[in-house]
Amino acid sequence: MSSTEALDLNNLPQHVAIIMDGNGRWAHKRGLPRTMGHRAGMDALRAVVKALDAIGTKYLTVYAFSTENWKRPEEEVGMLMSLIREYIYKELMALHRQKVKISIIGERERLPDDVRKKLEEAVEKTKDNPGMRFIIALNYGSREEIARAARCLAERVLAGELMPQDIDGQAFAKCLYTDGTPDPDLIIRTSGEMRLSNFLLWQGAYAELVVTECLWPDFREAHVHEAIREYQMRQRRFGGIIEGS
Ligand code: IPE
Ligand code: IPE
Ligand code: MG
Repeated sequence: MSSTEALDLNNLPQHVAIIMDGNGRWAHKRGLPRTMGHRAGMDALRAVVKALDAIGTKYLTVYAFSTENWKRPEEEVGMLMSLIREYIYKELMALHRQKVKISIIGERERLPDDVRKKLEEAVEKTKDNPGMRFIIALNYGSREEIARAARCLAERVLAGELMPQDIDGQAFAKCLYTDGTPDPDLIIRTSGEMRLSNFLLWQGAYAELVVTECLWPDFREAHVHEAIREYQMRQRRFGGIIEGS
């Protein structure tokens, strides 16, 4: 059976978000340094971008580095940054050919200059592509994002451009990094951890969560389809009721 069999093509998530976790454990199981796990994770990312694009996913957001990941040893942080740069360097042409449009969410200022430049180059090169939006969350944390939105709204109120009573959910969402992107329908977390770790807290209010035991470096197309099948078995109610139930 091909793994797309039994996928309901009329009920696909339009936005899939992934917490790519478990690289360290993958490496530990093999007696390798953690950084080898991060390197192996790049193959998973390549396969997952392809698999989601192939079924017509409109938006993919991946959590690549959190605002809390700076707590890790300097050597690991340095390696993660150079792997991100290497990923863009190696994959940009293929992504461009796939007509993928790359964007970044997160606080860019703290990123090393060369990493930021490489990413900005990728965003610029792919900006007119009509295909899947591939959003990389880098130095991203929801709390920082929400505080930043509050700051931005407060400044507009101070400048007399906005009245406090005009601040509603919609106005708030416009100040988040994700402005213009629909909320994720499905959030997948690999490696069994059942938490969001500061990822898309606002946007994921009604996302379906699928946690898989699979460690990120082992995650491939078949796992993507499995997660989508699980999503398709859920009944989304958004606080309402389904008639007849
Ligand atoms: C995810 O894998 C990658 C990042 C957080 C950047 P981890 O490095 O968190 O792997 P585990 O959770 O320690 O196995
Ligand atoms: C979340 O994973 C961050 C990324 C995948 C980039 P972590 O490994 O940092 O999360 P915790 O520490 O287990 O919550
Ligand atoms: Mg982890």
